[in-house]
Amino acid sequence: MIIAVDGPAASGKGTISRALAQHFGLPWLDTGLLYRAVGVATVRGGGDPDDEAAALAACDFDEALLDDAELRSEQAGEWASRVSVHPAVREALVVRQQRFANQPGGAVLDGRDIGTVIAPDADAKLFVTASAESRAARRHADEVALDPDADYAEILADIEERDRRDASRSAAPMRQADDADLLDTTDLTISAAVQRAIALVEARTGRR
Ligand code: DC
Repeated sequence: MIIAVDGPAASGKGTISRALAQHFGLPWLDTGLLYRAVGVATVRGGGDPDDEAAALAACDFDEALLDDAELRSEQAGEWASRVSVHPAVREALVVRQQRFANQPGGAVLDGRDIGTVIAPDADAKLFVTASAESRAARRHADEVALDPDADYAEILADIEERDRRDASRSAAPMRQADDADLLDTTDLTISAAVQRAIALVEARTGRR
């Protein structure tokens, strides 16, 4: 069983995907981490994330990079969004994602183009979203714990810019697949969102 979970930054799709993987006993791949690794490897190599050749060269990054804490930063998310517009970069990462999706027993993958490009035949597809304001408020609450000066307006502007770039690029833009279920987490607690996601997958697949 393949479960595809797509949606914008800070929508809760990572938390929901991890919970789905645990509930259904499936391996999980956070595909955003691959783009984050390419972004960080590009910059560490002295390249510009907007330069397709430099970003492509960074696609054979060292596997150990996937465990690097810097990948989780806002800065890495922005670099990831910038390298992800390049068709050559997307192409270089497709095989790895499809191999993961098609492993025996199935898998959960989350990203921006899982239901549309990577696993168009997935058994269940969710598009997880929330208002930009509530996503920014969640990010802000996380960041304030580390930096009391974290600025809500700046975080909201970054989120809106990332949404715009991810949804407007010509190569595999972020969009809800026609056969995906929409899950809006704006007014849901984490546990309510997870319960809803499980129920949607059960309804689509008949699996418990
Ligand atoms: O899910 P995330 O915030 O870690 O993703 C970081 C960026 O990577 C996102 O802004 C766009 C890109 N990305 C993508 O283009 N396709 C994916 N399947 C996953 C992420």
